[in-house]
Amino acid sequence: MHIAALHQPSQLQLNQQGNLKHFLTIEGLPKDTLTKILDTAQSFFDDNNNLITSPLLEGRTVMNLFFENSTRTRTTFEAAAKRLSANVLNIDIARSSTSKGETLRDTLWNLQSMAADIFVVRHSASGAAHFIAQTVCPDIAIINAGDGRHAHPTQAMLDMLTIRREVKKPFSDISVAIIGDIKHSRVARSDVAALQTLGCKDIRIIGPKTLLPVGFEQYAPDVRLFTNMDEGVKDCDVIIALRIQNERIESPALSSQSEFYKLYGLNEQRLSLAKPNAIVMHPGPMNRGVEIASSIADGPQSVILKQVTNGIAVRMAVLALSMQGQLQQKSLLAALAI
Ligand code: NCD
Repeated sequence: MHIAALHQPSQLQLNQQGNLKHFLTIEGLPKDTLTKILDTAQSFFDDNNNLITSPLLEGRTVMNLFFENSTRTRTTFEAAAKRLSANVLNIDIARSSTSKGETLRDTLWNLQSMAADIFVVRHSASGAAHFIAQTVCPDIAIINAGDGRHAHPTQAMLDMLTIRREVKKPFSDISVAIIGDIKHSRVARSDVAALQTLGCKDIRIIGPKTLLPVGFEQYAPDVRLFTNMDEGVKDCDVIIALRIQNERIESPALSSQSEFYKLYGLNEQRLSLAKPNAIVMHPGPMNRGVEIASSIADGPQSVILKQVTNGIAVRMAVLALSMQGQLQQKSLLAALAI
């Protein structure tokens, strides 16, 4: 499926009341929806900044369907669902009957018959979550946990929550630099869409020509491309480093990892070009000494582990909001009316 065909308007993702039904991509969602996700996520922290637990999804069943490897995303979805008191099933896809010739459709219909309310789907094919939401299981809330190089909307929202909590300036007043393999990154695509929707006017995309996407110029002037890292990070508030997505690269895009580190690795000298209190982010998994120096990853400006905790809050918000239309009890609806 062509990626352009996936830029669905919001109808597929929002119900008639404008509430989230599926969460497939950031594109097409209004600013209000993104802000509601952020506000709801923030409400899951108590006054001491600890995550709370809640009975919101008691009796609901969340199934994690990860057709591609994951550590953080799968585990934080599980932690989020458990904090909301849902039943969580992690389906072992590698050992499921799809390996015995059953079609994906049949596997999903069987899982749906086990009273699933939400499918959290990660798949290597761009468009997999859209396909399931549109044609296979439209009555189940489908949350995209990453599809090919297309979208990773919950990662984008946890990145936005981290920026909001750590930078403490309106999105319209900050500069964000995203560095590395932009071309193959679903995180970059979703981050740019979320930043634009939230009003960020200065987004810098930095990397070697071979790892920069074609067609990003259409987002100008909000988005600028840089092949020179020193110019790209100058005076920015947020730096997001990305891994080289070797599993999605068909022909060599780089001469070597050490060459990449020399030109685009985030080190002390380059970080010093950004604003003095700039924050450093990375979605993980991180390759130390390739896109980021260990001293930066573990340094005082790094918020990389805070992103992981914020990921639980954001995933709680998305799971809860996707069930909002179905929550019967008024008190539960009131609890979500932020
Ligand atoms: C990202 C992903 O899977 O797209 N990681 C994540 O979800 N934490 C980025 C990556 O794999 O590099």
